[in-house]
Amino acid sequence: MDYYVKAKQALEKIRDRDDFLVLAVETSCDETAVAVTRGRKVISSVVSSQIDIHRRFGGVVPEIASRNHITAIDAIVKNALNEAGVSLSGIDVIAVTYGAGLLGALLVGVAYAKALAYTLGKPLIAVNHIKGHIAANYISEPGLQPPYICLLASGGHTSILKVNSFADITEIGSTQDDAVGEAFDKVARVLGLTYPGGPEIEKLAKEGRPTYTLPRAFKGEGEYNFSFSGLKTAVINLVENCRARGEEIRREDLAASFQTEVADLLTSKAVTAAREHGIKTIALAGGVGANGPLRELLKQRGEAGNIRVLLPPRYLCTDNAAMIGVAAYEEIKAGASPASLDLDADPAL
Ligand code: KG4
Ligand code: ZN
Repeated sequence: MDYYVKAKQALEKIRDRDDFLVLAVETSCDETAVAVTRGRKVISSVVSSQIDIHRRFGGVVPEIASRNHITAIDAIVKNALNEAGVSLSGIDVIAVTYGAGLLGALLVGVAYAKALAYTLGKPLIAVNHIKGHIAANYISEPGLQPPYICLLASGGHTSILKVNSFADITEIGSTQDDAVGEAFDKVARVLGLTYPGGPEIEKLAKEGRPTYTLPRAFKGEGEYNFSFSGLKTAVINLVENCRARGEEIRREDLAASFQTEVADLLTSKAVTAAREHGIKTIALAGGVGANGPLRELLKQRGEAGNIRVLLPPRYLCTDNAAMIGVAAYEEIKAGASPASLDLDADPAL
């Protein structure tokens, strides 16, 4: 029988069940990640980070990322299966991130997942990386039901989303230029810190106080839009002007000032969005969601406004495959069709 017909039939057989097993693959950036999930539960999750390889280049080198995914993926799949105590034949669905991300890196996961789905005769579910980040909240809060506001803050995206259902998500605000994680990484570089910059800035800021005045990271017509490019440039100019004058920069204070500004802006907009849309829950998502002061401020401001704030544990905020597996489960429940073997990576999804 034709693969696609078989995959469709197999998916219809399990759609109404909650106990099917998903093997999820995520290779959109510099983490080779594989997980086994069942419903909103994580059975195993393995993340192999390439950060140490890319650090010496000050950022992710796409070609190196793809090559390392190729060499790592097979072993990571085996580890995830071993940890879950299941064999490939026990897997019901293959899920894979097909965008957004680095083209070459995505292609490794997509090609691998297609081959696996084809040889096993199992349905393949194509997952949008952003929806994966959102789905991390279902792992830490299995009872979560839309509607809710999602503050998405990652290395590639910064948005305020209104989640009406998993199949119906509207963006009510977004960055007009840099993503917030990108701004963290660039500011970190100017401060002489290593990649990825977010955790480094957080660490340095603990020793400082927000004594520098920086411009509001806001631009655009929409009330919920952001701009981080101006803020980033202000930090760069401040550092360069100080150097030119032979003055010393208080790096820890500048890190604290930048971080405070970012946390203030993201949280105030998310809370306003929830209030103005009459929504009582805010969920945080994306790598920058691992930032301590951002988490604390969101919780504090949300609760002051009688809004429940969901903060997935940090390891679920940064890239992982467990969130991709759970997103695939949600997609199946929302009526998704399996992907065909023509599935292509979509870096700009
Ligand atoms: O979501 P993610 O893991 O990958 C993308 O989909 O982009 O986000 C990566 C971004 C990087 O820019 C990194 O610096 C930032 O998340 N990040 C943080 C923290 N941990 C990771 N930013 C601020 N504070 C953190 N603790
Ligand atoms: Zn991500």
